[in-house]
Order: sequence, then structure tokens, then C-alpha cells
Amino acid sequence: MKNLRSFFSARETPFYYYDLELLDATLMALSSANRYGYHVHYALKANNNTPILERIKKAGLGVDCVSGNEVKIGLEHGFKSSNIVLAGVGKTDKEIGYAIDQNIFSFNVESIQELEVIDEIAGKKGKKANVSIRINPAIEAGTHHYITTGAKGNKFGISGEQLLESLDLLKSLSNVHFIGLHYHIGSQITDLNRFKNLCERVNHLQKELQAAGFSLPHLNVGGGLGIDYENPQEHPIPDFEAYFRVFHEHLKLLPDQEVHFELGRSIVGQCGTLVTRALYLKESDHSNFLILDAGMTDLMRPALYQASHKIVSLSEAQNTRQYDVVGPICESSDAFGKSITLPETKRGDILMICSAGAYGETMKNSYNARDLAPAYYSE
Ligand code: LLP
Repeated sequence: MKNLRSFFSARETPFYYYDLELLDATLMALSSANRYGYHVHYALKANNNTPILERIKKAGLGVDCVSGNEVKIGLEHGFKSSNIVLAGVGKTDKEIGYAIDQNIFSFNVESIQELEVIDEIAGKKGKKANVSIRINPAIEAGTHHYITTGAKGNKFGISGEQLLESLDLLKSLSNVHFIGLHYHIGSQITDLNRFKNLCERVNHLQKELQAAGFSLPHLNVGGGLGIDYENPQEHPIPDFEAYFRVFHEHLKLLPDQEVHFELGRSIVGQCGTLVTRALYLKESDHSNFLILDAGMTDLMRPALYQASHKIVSLSEAQNTRQYDVVGPICESSDAFGKSITLPETKRGDILMICSAGAYGETMKNSYNARDLAPAYYSE
């Protein structure tokens, strides 16, 4: 911490700091997927910084993209097109055309109409596109309602029933190659039973598809494994082993079927920290505000999902106080936590907002015409 303190103090705040050794250790733990022959695609939307992507590529992962630009970023960082999947409910014709030109591994298709459009665009190019159909399994992920994606009423994918109804259409499309089903039930899921429920839904639908004469070589079960935001120091690396074991124990695979995952947060969440300084201390009748120079423009998660990130003050004071920790933005939702106990903090002290590696920088913005926080790395 001593070295970090001088590293942090010497720099203008706010900024992101990444511990690349922790990222490497996380990637090493993730390799427990190899034991079961699973394929992991990194969900690039979580963080697309070059030093991070370089390490992820070196670890042999593919990428999961949700826009043409993400596909481009993946390719520019050396990921093979045969290791790229593209999801998203609103793929444009341009994005579809580009991804077909790049021969990506699979489109994760979110509607019947999109399937027809991919077929048409591929046909015009004289190509055949690999497609997986994204199913909304109607499963509650037990996470914040803004980040469930496979529950009833979510906009993602189609229902299993709709898929069965459209099998004739699928058979008639000659420019797409139907290679599998895709699921993703949500993000920051810490109850592994939710994934067991997913396996049961998958098994059920696979059986029905098999009965209808489809034998699909690939199955993509998405991502969503959560991290410990409360105690990141105690649990810096998620329990990938237990996560993969759930699928190993509960999925009933077809012969020679390959299983794919799309993990984002669990890979990069804990290696990133948002480093900030105390700007002002302000006591009012009801609150004791600690006003930081980092705000919701740097890390949107608390304002958007009431997410709580552990805050560590590098103040060396012995006594503690309770603070309402807020940012400088002109929005009352710009707050990092209420009644947080910290060592007594004074103007200029450095604070760390932990577990900010996933969906931190990729969602940062310049509202209030603010500068974008830069990033520094441990090596
Ligand atoms: N696959 C698909 C199709 C996805 O939509 C997502 C995330 C992932 C994989 C990766 O999920 P992960 O393993 O990272 O949970 N901004 C929110 C999270 C939104 C997640 C969107 N989809 C947050 O900051 O909590």
C-alpha cells in the first residue's frame, strides 16, 4: 500500500488504476473451464482497455461483442474472428454486413425478424452466416432489475415456444447455418442456484429440439457470475470452479456438443479501482458530506443501479467518522454511499472506490462537460 500511496498521490485525480497481476491471477483461476472443455468468450462491454484485452487474449479467450465497433476492437486486438460472437437486440444492417464480412463465429440472434435480415444480407454477399438463437428462458436472476436479461418481460431473445414455432422458417433459410442456442439470464448473479435453474430450462428445450430433428453442435449459456463488492479484499477472485461445476453437473449435453460462456464482470471487476481525492467536507443539519472529485460520470453504477462499491480512505487518521460520500455532479443520484464509516478524512486525502474494473470505464461519460478519467496500470 505504501508504494501505491505515493503512486496515487503523485497523480491528478480521478483516475482508474488496474492491478494487472490480479487480472492474471483471475485468468489463471478461470482456466478451470479447460477441465470441462468449455469455451469462454470475454464480454468486451465490461472493459475494453488495451492492456486488459492483451492479457485476456493471451489467456486464450474469445470475445463476446454487442456492436460492430466491439467486433472491430476485438479484431484490432488480435482476437480471431472464429472466436467472436455478436449479440444485441438492435443490430443494424451495417453491423450485420460487417460481421458477415469478418466471418465471425456466430450471431446470437434476438428475434425472428433479425434472423430473416441476417439471411437476406448473407445471401446478397453470397455467404452463409452461423447463427445461434437467443432464448429468453423466463428465469429470475435474483439481481438488480435493470440487469436481469432472461426474465419474463425483458427485451432480449425469444421464448422457447416461439423458437419451436419457427423451426420451419429456420429450415427454409438457406443463407444461415443454425448452430446453437444462446442464453444469458443477467449480471452480478451470486446465487449459483440461478444457473442450475438455467441448466434445467436448457435441458428441457434441447430435448424438444432434438425431437424436432435438430442436433445443435453449440450451446452458449452466457455469463453473469457476480463478484463480491462488499469484501473485495477477502474475495478478489470469484469461485469459477464452483460456477463451472454447476453446469458440469446439471447440463445434459448432446453428443459432441460444445459449451460456450460469456463472462465479463467476474474477469475484470476486481482488478480496477477508481482513485479520487476528497474535495470538500460539509456538515449540514442531517448529513456529514464528503464530496469527492470523482462522480457518476466516472462510475455510473451507484447512480444507475444503487450499486455499492467499497470505499477505502487512505487517510492515516486513527479516529473514524460517518460520511455521506457524494460526487460533484449536479444530480442528487451522484452519490457513492450513505453513512459510510471511514477514518476521519480531510480535503486532499486519497480514497479508493473498489471493484470498478467492470462497467466502469466503458460507461464513463463527460456529462457536465467533465474530463474523462484516464487509466494507469500496475506494470
Ligand atoms: N452476454 C451478454 C449477452 C450480456 O448482455 C452480458 C452483459 C454478458 C454476457 C456479460 O455479463 P457479465 O458476466 O459481465 O455479468 N452495466 C451493468 C451490467 C450490464 C450487463 C449487460 N450484459 C453493471 O454495471 O452492472
